Formats: sequence, structure tokens, C-alpha cells
Amino acid sequence: MNYIHNIWTEKTNFFGNTDPLALASKYGTPLYVYNESILRSRCKALTSLISYPAFKVNYSAKANTNLSLLRIIRSEGLTVDAMSAGELFLELKAGFTPEEILLVCNNVSDEELRFAIDAGVLISADSVSQLRRIGQLNRGGKVAVRINPGIGAGHHEKVITGGQKTKFGVDPQFTAELKSILKEFNLHLTGLNQHIGSLFMTPESYIEAASFLLSYAQNFPELQFVDFGGGFGIPYHKDSQEKPLDLKTLGSELQKLIDDFVRKTGKKLTIKIEPGRFIVAECGVLLGRVHALKQNAQTLYAGTDIGFNVLIRPAFYGSHHDIEIYRDVPATDSEMQKVTIVGNICETGDILAKDRTLPSIKENDVIGVLDAGAYGMVMSSNYNCRLRPAEVLIDQSGNDILIRRRDTLEDLLIQFQDLLP
Ligand SMILES: Cc1ncc(COP(=O)(O)O)c(C=O)c1O
Repeated sequence: MNYIHNIWTEKTNFFGNTDPLALASKYGTPLYVYNESILRSRCKALTSLISYPAFKVNYSAKANTNLSLLRIIRSEGLTVDAMSAGELFLELKAGFTPEEILLVCNNVSDEELRFAIDAGVLISADSVSQLRRIGQLNRGGKVAVRINPGIGAGHHEKVITGGQKTKFGVDPQFTAELKSILKEFNLHLTGLNQHIGSLFMTPESYIEAASFLLSYAQNFPELQFVDFGGGFGIPYHKDSQEKPLDLKTLGSELQKLIDDFVRKTGKKLTIKIEPGRFIVAECGVLLGRVHALKQNAQTLYAGTDIGFNVLIRPAFYGSHHDIEIYRDVPATDSEMQKVTIVGNICETGDILAKDRTLPSIKENDVIGVLDAGAYGMVMSSNYNCRLRPAEVLIDQSGNDILIRRRDTLEDLLIQFQDLLP
């Protein structure tokens, strides 16, 4: 086994007792591979973020809903959020109790709200109109409300979820309306939550928004918790030694805010954070195989089986993922080349990595896309009628376990069964 370029996975012993070429032959590609030890270490880094006793890490499951990963995350003492009835359903199957789930949906139907109410799951209303619907469906019940603190952060305009240019949360100027609906339907407002956006690498905006939410919380005497949201970034540029988020500073700033709040108000609210990416991104590597090399005009293309149906982040947000290269014969040259790595989807925008300078790639090489554990598999699709990949876990003993099978051609027919002769 000759690794051509594998600094991160070697440093972390990512593949345990196996290796990427063996995994690619055993399970096929594309293949999502997750490392349990890394996943657990990220959970622990957050559960120990502050020492406040009523502190909860609410994993934002939209980042990755694989049942086995959900179970591991629960075993680390985390609770979970859900964005839809589907996520809620999976979380219950993974063993989370209704009390451990917060439904943070937006613009949903009465059926979806009813599903959560019947399951005994607390719902956070994302608008005044949804709060009224919840009141009609669950008079006298408990509810939370998502606030837009007027502050946003994130790696791309598509994921900034606080501030003036987003559909999310209730503008605090509607506090009187909130109060009047709570009163009209005898609803008990037990929680306030917010989420300002995804992937911040410095803590200032998060702390500013947290400070806002704590002061806003004083409007509602019945509150039991505030949830500051997620967005905790990870270093996607590992090859260029990008620094990780400074959790120590973030933790101590949060701690100060909370201590201050308790001192001033005498209230010991439960404090939640709601990260997704930070917990699962770095525990995932996506393996794919190079099937063709081509020079078109000035560009050298490495054509792989990792289309944007498998990992959409680069095509959708222009996101960067570092790439590793694995080969089972020794490198015959040490030349570095500029290459554009593409997938097998019939669209010009199907680009995984543009103009990267990497050791020269050969046909049949296996490549590893780093930090693919968050917003990878969950955003995959059957576009072009391609099959969604399998998922494998490298457990704490270093052994590989299949935790989701690859789609089959028959899966493409499942919803048409009634129409078949
Ligand atoms: C309401 C809410 N909470 C938490 C998250 C998690 O964000 P991240 O994965 O960046 O931590 C999101 C993601 O968009 C979200 O919409």
C-alpha cells in the first residue's frame, strides 16, 4: 500500500485496521467512511465547553442522520434537534426520547406539527403565524420560539440565518404579538432558540447574539431554557494549516455571559448550544475512484465517481474540501500538477475541486475527500438516477462496519411498485 498524499488520515489513524484501497474494493465507491473515535472526541469537546451544570449540547441532526452515528452521539450525552417529521422519526428510532428532541421547523403543515405534538416533542415556532397554529393544535401546551437576534454569520450567504436577509426566526419587534398569542392559547413558553448561521471561525458574532438572547429572555418569566444555536466551524483547509475554532475562548466568553446572567437575575436557565457540522464533519472521509483523465484546453480533469449527487457542497456553496490520494503501486514520479477533479454527473458545474495543485493523479487511484461527515450524505440524491453511496464506520477498535447499504437499482423502482406490471 502506497499512500501518495494522506497527511490527515495518517495523523489521525483514520482508517484503523484497514485502508482506503481495501475499503474501496470491499464496499465499492463512492463510499462515506466515518471514524467513531473522532466523532466521540468532537462530542466531548463540546460537552465540556463550559462548566455550567445545566448545559446541554443539542446535536443538529440535519448535518448527518445516520442511525448509527445518532446512537453514538446520544451515548455521549447529547440531545438532538429535528428540522422535520422525518428527522424526528429517525431520532426516535435511534433511541432519543421525546424530551431529548427539539423540533426547529419552519413553514410546516398542521400534519407535521400534529405529528410532533402527538409524539410529545417540543416545537419551536419560527413565526408568529406558526405560533398561532401551534396554539390552535395544542392549547395549554408548552412551546418554544425561534428569535432572529438581528445578527448573522456564516461561510456563504445561503447559510446566514440571522439578520435582515433571512427567512428565519421572529423579529423581536413582534414581542407584543408573541405575548398576546401565548396568552390567547394559554401556551407556556419554555424555550427561546436562535441560530445565526453556519460555520463561524471566530466567536465574536456568536457571543454577541448569545448576549442578546439572554437579555431578551427576561421578557418571558416562564422560560426554562435558551438555545444559542450552532454554526461552530471546522478547519476545511487542513493542507494549509488552517487553525481550528478557538473553543477555549468561546467557552470562557460564554461562561462569563452566563455567570453574569445568573448573578443579575438569579435564574438558572438551562443553556443549550446546537452544533451540527462541528460534531460530524471531521469524522467523515468520502472515498471515490478516478475513472478517467482528460486534458480539455488548459485544464487537466480527473474524472471520478464523486458527482454532486454524492457531495453537493462544492457545487452548491463553492466549498473547499482537501483531497487525499491513495494508490497501491509506488509513485513513479513526484511531480505536482494542477488538476480539476470532477464527478460523473451530466452538468458542467459538477466540480469537486477546481485547480488544485496535487501529486499527479492516475487512473484507478482512490481519492479521499476530507471533512465530508457533515452535509454530505444527508444532501445526496439520486440525480441522474445514480445510486446513493454506502456508509461505513471505523469503530473504536479500528474495525470497519457497514452502517448503511448502497442504493440498488431496485431502490429506484420502490415508489413505482404499484405501477409495475
Ligand atoms: C436551527 C439550526 N440549528 C443548528 C444548525 C447547525 O448548524 P451547524 O451545522 O453549522 O452547526 C442549523 C444549520 O443550519 C440550523 O438551521
